[in-house]
This record gives sequence, C-alpha cells and structure tokens, in this order.
Amino acid sequence: MTPLIEAVDLVREYTMGEETVRALDELTLRLDGGQFVSVVGPSGAGKSTLLHVIGALDVADSGRIVVDGADLGAMSDDEQSEFRRRKIGFIFQFFNLVPTMSAWENVALPRLLDGQSLRGSRSDALALLERVGLGNRADHRPSELSGGQMQRVAVARSLVMDPRIVLADEPTGNLDSATGAAILELLRDVAHDDATRLVLMVTHDTSAAQYADRTITVRDGRIA
Ligand SMILES: Nc1ncnc2c1ncn2[C@@H]1O[C@H](COP(=O)(O)OP(=O)(O)OP(=O)(O)O)[C@@H](O)[C@H]1O
Ligand SMILES: [Mg+2]
Repeated sequence: MTPLIEAVDLVREYTMGEETVRALDELTLRLDGGQFVSVVGPSGAGKSTLLHVIGALDVADSGRIVVDGADLGAMSDDEQSEFRRRKIGFIFQFFNLVPTMSAWENVALPRLLDGQSLRGSRSDALALLERVGLGNRADHRPSELSGGQMQRVAVARSLVMDPRIVLADEPTGNLDSATGAAILELLRDVAHDDATRLVLMVTHDTSAAQYADRTITVRDGRIA
C-alpha cells in the first residue's frame, strides 16, 4: 500500500547572508493514515520546517515528497494552494482565529476561501463545533472564548474541508496542562475517527507521547 506521506531525502536550506542553515538534511519518512503521530526534538531541529514542507507552505530544495498521491515538487503555485485548501488542515500555537468573526464563521472560513458561501457552510460548521464540545459557543467571538475553547475552534476549522492530513504545530504550547490534555485527546479522536486521516503534531509537551500512536524524533534535520 502506498503510504499517505512518502518523503525521501528531503533537503531544505535557508541562506541568511553568508550563512546557510540546513533545516532538513536528507530526511526520509513514510507515514500511513488513521493515526496520531507526534513529532519531537530539540529547538531548531527542523520540526516546523518538516510540517511546512508536508503542508506545501514551503518547498524542499531537493528530494521527493508525495502526499496522498500528489508529488509536491511538481506542482505549480496554484496547485499548491489548492492542495493546501483541500487536503490539509492547519492548527497553530496561537490559534490564528479571525477576531471579528464568530466561532462558527471562523470554522467555515476555509470554505469561503474555497469559493463557497459562509452561510451555506453554517450547518457543517455548527456540527463541527458540537464535535469539539462547543455547540453552545457558536456565536461567540474569539475574545469571548478561553484559550482552550479557541484551540477547539481551530481544531473544528482544520476539519471543515475534510482534509486527509491535519498538521498541528505546538497546539498545546499556549495552554495549561489540563486544557492541553483535553486538546491532545481531541486530536487523537480526530485521527481515529477516520481510518485514512493522519494527525501530525509537533510538540514539546512531554505528556503528548501517551496520547500519540507513534512518536518520531527529528534531530539535525533528520529522523533520529
Ligand atoms: N524562514 C527561515 N529563514 C531562515 N532560517 C530558517 C527559516 N525557518 C527556519 N530556519 C532555520 O532552520 C532551522 C530549523 O528551524 P525549525 O523552525 O524547523 O525548527 P523547530 O524544530 O521547529 O524548532 P522549535 O522547536 O524551536 O520550533 C533553524 O536553525 C532555523 O533557524
Ligand atoms: Mg518549530
């Protein structure tokens, strides 16, 4: 069976003035769907870079990466943004919600960016808010929600396009440990709900390993 993610010898270098940093150094990785995978490793190891390359937010300089059958190296800019919209859900440390929109509008936003109407996506957005335990907060603005609730909205938003892969970079980094544990449980359930969906999470949270099906360590731009 073809893995959901197949990365072979990925290299990503950043040049700043005279200095070149090899963020990914011939990294090779294969991952199947239906699981919750955590990515750990020291600061600067290349974890965020790896997530960005998998999500087509960044492009590798060399190597090969195929995600859900799509060769990311061979895509035009337009194809990359369509891939991001349709195949990937993103969750960030600081939630990245639109402050002027209600919870349900934030959840529906990726549909709007995909050319669909916000109104027409309302019932799906409400169902997802129910799914993350926020059915009674649909009309609240982000400023009227707690940090844990904002991250639940972000989890719901990451699912609204029914993506194959959810990428989360430090999703509990801004939450207390009990609130963070609830988010980890939710992400695990999101991965297990759908036999083909992968949730890939970068974390420094030492309790994350107990929720993940698999933990991979990145060190010096490679899988350790
Ligand atoms: N846009 C960029 N321009 C220049 N250098 C970068 C850029 N992004 C990342 N780097 C460098 O690439 C290396 C890997 O960075 P990356 O953000 O992937 O690390 P990380 O493992 O996510 O670290 P952290 O745990 O601190 O978030 C670092 O040395 C970083 O300074
Ligand atoms: Mg990082």
